Amino acid sequence: MIANILDTIGNTPLIAIPNTNRANEGQVLFKYERSNPGGSIKDRPALYIVQEAERRGWLKPGGTIIESSSGNFGISLAMIGAARGYRVIILADPKTTDANLALIKGFGAEVIVVTEQDDSGSYHKTRIALANKLAREIKHAYRPDQCFNLLNSEAHFHSTAREIMAACPGGIAAFVTAVSTGGQLGGISSYMKTYAPEVRIIGVDAAGSTVFGGQAEAYRIPGIGLSWTPVNLNLADIDCAYKITDAQAFLAARAFARHEGILMGPSSGACALVALKLAQELEPGQKVVCMVSDGGERYIQTLFNDGWMAEQGFAIDADVESVRATARLLRPWSLRPADHANYRPDLIRSLDVPETTLNMNAETSKRPLHR
Ligand SMILES: Cc1ncc(COP(=O)(O)O)c(C=O)c1O
Repeated sequence: MIANILDTIGNTPLIAIPNTNRANEGQVLFKYERSNPGGSIKDRPALYIVQEAERRGWLKPGGTIIESSSGNFGISLAMIGAARGYRVIILADPKTTDANLALIKGFGAEVIVVTEQDDSGSYHKTRIALANKLAREIKHAYRPDQCFNLLNSEAHFHSTAREIMAACPGGIAAFVTAVSTGGQLGGISSYMKTYAPEVRIIGVDAAGSTVFGGQAEAYRIPGIGLSWTPVNLNLADIDCAYKITDAQAFLAARAFARHEGILMGPSSGACALVALKLAQELEPGQKVVCMVSDGGERYIQTLFNDGWMAEQGFAIDADVESVRATARLLRPWSLRPADHANYRPDLIRSLDVPETTLNMNAETSKRPLHR
């Protein structure tokens, strides 16, 4: 028997994709995070940060959790709030899907939809600034602050990265994941550079996002991207970065559902294409581990809605050979991501990052993973 739903977070499976991945190339393995109870990888940092806040007395029974999230992190916090008895307020934006809003509310959390765009045309900064303001105004409120809190990447250092390495005793050749707050890419890359430096670390961003530099443009892939380089990500640990277009990411996610029976969101479709490309250049027996950060149900009205896909001008279905050909044609955005760093220390002040985050980071940053 499992005592509490939160005890089922983590220990997700690694899954091969035999219909798309050929036997004469490297082997792609999906780390399937939909198996977490909240349906995504974000259950891990959400629980890790809440537990630390409880230990420090920043979050007490009856307290309120306030966070900026367009989806997965908000759903995870809403689930944790329901299980632990906290009030949860999530600041979402017009890009947040109805399915995500319904899930957040289903767990009993409150939602505020922020409609004011920031200077990059996205909602990240306006959402964060309002969350910080509310956290100051509401009594007994705690801000997990996934974007600036280094505990986000630390959660993945201690859980996700260890699980991957333990499941692959023969080692892995490459690791691929998407980036937004940098939690997963930052924490896992730091672990691998420390304990398995031979692994090539590949970051995947949306074309139009500027985590790895470049020109900001609107994009549709949910959950991915940011208009600066997040503090949770040390670009010196990243060997190569790709930028994937909306059309490629959505089409790939649909193809893996249809040809492998694996549901995933568009950010994972983007990563899966890159993983397939790397595998095509590797030998049999060499492994490429690719994060699949969430499942497909969250995108039922978009990714899996033929009418919506057609409205965006995205192709609806691709056979295995054209997915493999798309992967083969991908070219890295950067082979030296650290040269394009866009860290923004000024945001700490302009967005009023909370004291709890700054105090926590002063401690966390001395730990080995944030070297
Ligand atoms: C579906 C999905 N993929 C990828 C990411 C990026 O993860 P991170 O914020 O750890 O960089 C997120 C973040 O919200 C996400 O929801």
